[in-house]
Amino acid sequence: MKLRVPATTTNFGSGFDTFGLALNLYNTFEVEKADAFGVEAEGEGEDLPRDERNLVIKVYKRCCEIDGFEVKPFRLKQEVNVPTARGLGSSATAIVAGIEIFSILHGSDLPLEEKLKIAFEFEMHPDNLLPAFIGGFVICADGVFKKIEFPKDLSLVFAIPDYKISTEESRGVLPKELSLHDAVFNIQRASLFVVAITMGDYSLLREAVEDRIHQRYRSKLIKGYDKLVKAGYSAGALAVYISGSGPTIGAIVEKEASRGVAESFANIIDTIGGKVLTLEASQEGVSWL
Ligand code: HSE
Repeated sequence: MKLRVPATTTNFGSGFDTFGLALNLYNTFEVEKADAFGVEAEGEGEDLPRDERNLVIKVYKRCCEIDGFEVKPFRLKQEVNVPTARGLGSSATAIVAGIEIFSILHGSDLPLEEKLKIAFEFEMHPDNLLPAFIGGFVICADGVFKKIEFPKDLSLVFAIPDYKISTEESRGVLPKELSLHDAVFNIQRASLFVVAITMGDYSLLREAVEDRIHQRYRSKLIKGYDKLVKAGYSAGALAVYISGSGPTIGAIVEKEASRGVAESFANIIDTIGGKVLTLEASQEGVSWL
């Protein structure tokens, strides 16, 4: 049994903790029944625990505990293509995988709301979790969410540095309170973002990813932030933003501009260490292969 779960890019500047998009970059998880738990990880998974501290197994065991099922050990083979702690939802892929593995191994068909409740015990970020479960662009508002189509003529270019920043660290630098002026600033821009992608008015996107809640604080943790933003816009990006809690920088581009933006990002990322990936939105969330 093998499943894949998409990477996710979130926030898009003004939509902090609200906007999330599934990407066509996937982690895969293969499960084989065994006498004891074991983990093999390929790709970017060199730091992942190989025992029961592995997040997929922890989530699976928690599902068994909640639903009163006996734990059935398995051998897990992970192909890790989503770089960890880079703002691309790698841990959400593991949480979603743990829950789906439970559903299949025990024939339990939990509704999405129940799956989310369990997922939130491990990570309180619906903007990563929901698109990983259901794919597409998702607007998340606590218990309520809506998936909408992300324009097919847009691509996303990511400058992904080699170094990691944990979400905990990156949330730790944010102020706990916001002025009324800054709250209004974000509501205005997040509204523009939804209009830009639903009505196809891409001229709004640059202003729409401006924000006063998180990017200015997080940018200080990101090497070459100003240069990357400038390089993205000079090469024709429609919008440049911090992907999730960083340190990855994302650019929304029209397809014909993707090569130029990728080269422009690469010139800078080569001096920092890292890589550049051009990706598309994925309409599909977790799926069995
Ligand atoms: N919206 C969350 C944050 C995503 O920005 O902290 C964490 O991956």
